[in-house]
Amino acid sequence: MRKITKAVFPVAGLGTRFLPATKAIPKEMLPIIDKPLIEYAVEEAVVAGIKEIIFITSHTKRSIEDHFDTNLELEEKLLKSGKKDAIKKINRNIFQDVTFTYVRQKSQKGLGHAILQAKHLINDESFAILLADDLIINDPSATQQLINVAQKTNSSVIGLNKVPKEHISRYGVISSADISKEQKLFLLDGIIEKPELNPPSDMAVFGRYVLSHHIFNYLEIINPGVAGELQLTDAIKLMLKEHDINGYLYDGIKFDCGSKEGYVQAIAHLASDLLPK
Ligand code: G1P
Repeated sequence: MRKITKAVFPVAGLGTRFLPATKAIPKEMLPIIDKPLIEYAVEEAVVAGIKEIIFITSHTKRSIEDHFDTNLELEEKLLKSGKKDAIKKINRNIFQDVTFTYVRQKSQKGLGHAILQAKHLINDESFAILLADDLIINDPSATQQLINVAQKTNSSVIGLNKVPKEHISRYGVISSADISKEQKLFLLDGIIEKPELNPPSDMAVFGRYVLSHHIFNYLEIINPGVAGELQLTDAIKLMLKEHDINGYLYDGIKFDCGSKEGYVQAIAHLASDLLPK
């Protein structure tokens, strides 16, 4: 498998769960202390060797574009007032050689539809997908772990998390003949988006994927699924009949920042060093 250098970030979602906070700013720009949520995921991708960040965005998400652009006016002011360290925070070295590309998703037809918008930028490569809502803290990062497994197995790999029964219907859920075994890698034989009844396992898809370009063939033929949306999960379900796809229970502390509970937990976790002992 060739080196994985591209990552797709679907960021066109409305963020209704965080209204009114997300009325005028994208949910991805909500701060986890002093850094917006999206920067954690972009940083994770870049540290894992990603050179091209592809945002699937919408007209309400301009501030994401501004955030990853230079702000010369602010830099000049900071320079004049001798705040060099602050410049390093807004113009980060690790992003210097990274290309940021923005593709507008004109209508919100779901995650599968969002990923399909990147088809013309991916060619015949494998690529990463990061859902910025899912914040994962680990070294090596979740993306790095999935890239390592994808390269070792020469297959597509989906990041998994074990989720308690009462929450499993919030996620894509996999099935695998390997599930009873004490291991971290599972060859998928099925996947279902947000099962209401009888989930096939407690293994939920959690925010990170490394997929081969073949996924676009399936994204082009799926019908609307859960919530009337084109679901990435449904394309994966078709793809696994013809291509090996593994699930990997990656290491890390995981926060579902798409929910208020997870968002607050992430902040509390990262704030623990700031609080008086
Ligand atoms: C999406 C995916 C779902 C996955 C989840 C968390 O759902 O469709 O399969 O389990 O992200 O990574 P969403 O949270 O956008 O509803």
